[in-house]
Order: sequence, then C-alpha cells, then structure tokens
Amino acid sequence: MRRVILLALLLGFPGFAAAQSKGAEIAEHGNDNGALPCAACHGEAGQGNTAIGAPALAGLPQAVIASKLQAFAASQGGNAMMQRIARALSPDERIAVADYFNRLK
Ligand code: HEC
Repeated sequence: MRRVILLALLLGFPGFAAAQSKGAEIAEHGNDNGALPCAACHGEAGQGNTAIGAPALAGLPQAVIASKLQAFAASQGGNAMMQRIARALSPDERIAVADYFNRLK
C-alpha cells in the first residue's frame, strides 16, 4: 500500500517537484546565465538583509515576487544589480524562484 501511494506521488507531481527544486537551485546557486544566488543578499531563509537594503522575500505572494522581477528585467524599479539579475532569469525561472520564496516563512 505504501508503495502504491509513493508511486502515485512520484507520477502525479513531477512538474511540481521540478519547479520546486529549480526555484531552490536558483536561490542557492543562481543560474548558468549569470544570475547571482538570491540567498547571498536576501538570506538563506529569505529574511532579507537590512545592512545592504535587501528586502525580505519569505512568504511574499508568488505573483508579487514574479511581477517585481518582471518589472526589474524591463528596467522598472530596483537597483542596477537586481535589474541585471532579473534579466538573467527566464520567465519560467522567475516564477520558480518566486514560488520558492513564497513557501518560505
Ligand atoms: C547582490 C545582492 C542581491 C542579490 C544576489 C539578489 N538581490 Fe534581490 N534585491 C537586492 C536589493 C538591494 C534589493 C532592493 C532594491 C531596491 O529596492 O532598489 C532587492 C530587491 C528585490 C526584490 C523586490 C522586493 C520588494 O519587496 O520590493 C525582489 C522580488 C528580489 N530582489 C528578488 C531577488 C531574487 C529572486 C534573486 C535571485 C535570483 C535576488 N533578488 C538576488 C539585492 C540582491
């Protein structure tokens, strides 16, 4: 019975699991396109860092984070560093990393 449940979980949510781990990967290590690891400035738990003016991201709605990244990529708001990082993320990656920070509390 446990194996059946496990199998159902594995088969049922592959896309979900992939998006989750992609977001975590970007937060911890950045991406191959030059995006810096978010955790370096926004903290391992997404708590932010007042010393460098990086806001907390943990628990923010996914849509808010994703749309800010979208705006930064279009040179609207944020600083030069955040704009460069946002541009280095694909739309899918922005959503994945936004989802990751939304789930941190
Ligand atoms: C080099 C440090 C640094 C890194 C790395 C970094 N950020 Fe930022 N981020 C900042 C700073 C500083 C701000 C504040 C910018 C401003 O308001 O002018 C900011 C702002 C933001 C905001 C806006 C938050 C708000 O409430 O206004 C979001 C969303 C964000 N960053 C997401 C990310 C993500 C996702 C990553 C990783 C892909 C990332 N950041 C990597 C420094 C960084």
